[in-house]
Amino acid sequence: MLPDRRLHNIINVSKIMKVIVTAGPTREALDPVRYISNGSTGKMGYALAFAAVERGHEVALISGPSPLEPPTQAKLIEVNTAAEMLKAVEDMVDWCDSLVMAAAVADWRPKVISEHKMKKDMNTPTIEIERTTDILKQIAPRKENRIFVGFAAESQDLRQEASRKLKEKDLDLIVANNITEPGVGFGSDTNRVLMLAKDGHEQELPLMAKKKVADTIIEWLEIKNER
Ligand code: CTP
Repeated sequence: MLPDRRLHNIINVSKIMKVIVTAGPTREALDPVRYISNGSTGKMGYALAFAAVERGHEVALISGPSPLEPPTQAKLIEVNTAAEMLKAVEDMVDWCDSLVMAAAVADWRPKVISEHKMKKDMNTPTIEIERTTDILKQIAPRKENRIFVGFAAESQDLRQEASRKLKEKDLDLIVANNITEPGVGFGSDTNRVLMLAKDGHEQELPLMAKKKVADTIIEWLEIKNER
């Protein structure tokens, strides 16, 4: 009998998916040298891009600033801000059959970007911030029969928050993690996630390498795409 892995590879041959993966943080400039961002390094998103490429799929990787090497087979689209990431997703969405939003998109940006570097001998500035656009919500009307996967980085109420985001963002799957746990979250090579699907299925994975988590998510997409 063929091992499971071979069976998956045979499924891959019959259906090559076109997958958009977003990864990394976004940076929202305050002045030419400062920005609002977060601690995302892109490890989860890049692991997803590698997993999809290795399994024979076509991948567009839309990445915020990250020190990581992307897979050479993926089409890399580099962005800085949430607005640029939104534009890149909007430009590519018609091409894909799956979108995996692993990026840690900044939720706020400074309302005004100072043209020149703010000097510390000026009055201490009050920085007014405004919301960025929620990319998943904005793109939801263009979902059609595409499969959309989101992530939920939480520090409390993991299940409730994940399930709220699954519904509010019209997702097929949400991958949630508690970023306060050791070995989980930004910069770590491992992750422990709870996967909640729209169809009610759920899976709690143990702490494992981000690449293994990525393989599991891509496998889930393959099965979904076959249906
Ligand atoms: N996301 C997005 N656009 C944003 C912010 C987040 O598309 N402006 C996506 C993320 O890529 C992720 C999902 O939405 O797939 C959830 O992101 P998360 O930061 O966990 O949640 P938020 O939507 O920011 O909600 P909250 O602030 O309540 O945690």
